[in-house]
Amino acid sequence: MVKKTGGALFSTLKIDPSSGTPLYRQLEVKIRQIILNGQLAAETRMPATRQLASDLGISRLTVKNVYEQLIAEGFLWAKQGSGTYVARIQNNDFHAQTFARKQGKVPLAQRLSARAAWIGRSKATTRLDRVRAFRPGIPALDLFPRRAWADAYSTVLRANNDDYLGYGPSSGLEDLKQAIVEHVLDHRGIECLSSQVTITSGAQQAFSLVALALLEPEDIVWMEDPGHIAIRDSMRLLGIDVRSVPIDAEGFCLDHAVRRYPQSRVMFTTPSHQHPLGVVMSLNRRLELLDYANQSGSWVVEDDYDSEFHYTERALPALQALDSDGRVLYVGSFSKSLFPALRLGYLICPPDLARSFAAAQTLLSQNVSLLQQKALANFMLDGSFNAHIRKMRLAYRQRRDRLIECLERYASDLFELAPCHAGMHLIAWLKAPQLSDSEVAECIWAVGIDCLPVSIFCDKERLRPGLLFGFACAAEIHIERNVIVLSEAIRDNLQV
Ligand SMILES: Cc1ncc(COP(=O)(O)O)c(C=O)c1O
Repeated sequence: MVKKTGGALFSTLKIDPSSGTPLYRQLEVKIRQIILNGQLAAETRMPATRQLASDLGISRLTVKNVYEQLIAEGFLWAKQGSGTYVARIQNNDFHAQTFARKQGKVPLAQRLSARAAWIGRSKATTRLDRVRAFRPGIPALDLFPRRAWADAYSTVLRANNDDYLGYGPSSGLEDLKQAIVEHVLDHRGIECLSSQVTITSGAQQAFSLVALALLEPEDIVWMEDPGHIAIRDSMRLLGIDVRSVPIDAEGFCLDHAVRRYPQSRVMFTTPSHQHPLGVVMSLNRRLELLDYANQSGSWVVEDDYDSEFHYTERALPALQALDSDGRVLYVGSFSKSLFPALRLGYLICPPDLARSFAAAQTLLSQNVSLLQQKALANFMLDGSFNAHIRKMRLAYRQRRDRLIECLERYASDLFELAPCHAGMHLIAWLKAPQLSDSEVAECIWAVGIDCLPVSIFCDKERLRPGLLFGFACAAEIHIERNVIVLSEAIRDNLQV
């Protein structure tokens, strides 16, 4: 238990000198109540008597007497020379019951918005709480250069510059935007100005900004199916009409959408590495998509979430690099190239939209931590970022090869592997078509190994059952053991 060094703040505790009830009685009853309600955890340090007396405008002796009384009753205990603490009360259930009774006074259904039940059903939250092999979408956290990052971060913190502790510009820190401009030109062939970049809290926030700045409720958007669940569900949450577009060998099936759906305002796509199937959008399809966007006045959101990791050939330039009409909004993320907890991403848009995105950013969440932004800018500008990407490309290729080798050796009766030339996960189609991939995933989770079923990414599409295995976060030495355990678990528990 972490002890608060300064003691609890008791900001809501008020004493009324005019109430007619003696001050010590009021204080005693209130502290007792707070402890019984479970609002003060056991071992929480109480404020010093002098401090509480001054905060409440009463005498120190009154506070002292109250503490002594509560110590005598067993609510508090004192440690010589250290302070007074909340006691661990035997009947723990009492706290929980009191709290539950209070909560129960308002039925849950009345307290939630109509959207809440829907939010609760979203599969975007299908995530296990810990990072384990073979969780898709998680980079090699074991290989992250923590010391270099800590240096970059502490350099910012130690710089005697108050600006980094403030809010900063809502579109993001200029140094970081410059570093991103250089990065996307070098890696993705995108030419842009820093004034076109908005720094976001991950790609997910960039998608929300697109909705806020460009869409009305009931507007139609076209979205890949299977596709990124968090985009699809966050759009539907805002009342936007999401139409599902299947994927063929060339990527986003534009023809399918044009023939069936009313015109879209925004098309969401992952052209460099379709999520989750891994298809790379063909050049023809890219040109058709841009042509359609230009003719119809529709926007294309290019989600370029993991394009740093290609293993056989060089990645095609970004779709945005082909766009001469300013219809593509490019979204990048550092969740895969560095680590997800960083919560940093960016949106590159035509110059005339940038101001609206920055304003929307302010309303949505003010801005993104300037300390993190400056640390990342330093990390990129001194070459550490590129060095990390190069190392990860090698490591991920080795991890991918090892996973393929093990799945082929120990589980060839269960899975048929899809080709995997890029990204951080591979798809293993189940050979037994009668199996539900969710059931197989649950069976694997039960033995402490991670994966995701293909079906959770599908909206209207019904694909054959399959699993996503993330290899990036799986240390090579554990891969074999994990594959043996998961394949045995499937054979032992399911009819294969
Ligand atoms: C398709 C896709 N896009 C973007 C992201 C990145 O999201 P964020 O930057 O919010 O972590 C992910 C992460 O899982 C993803 O799968």
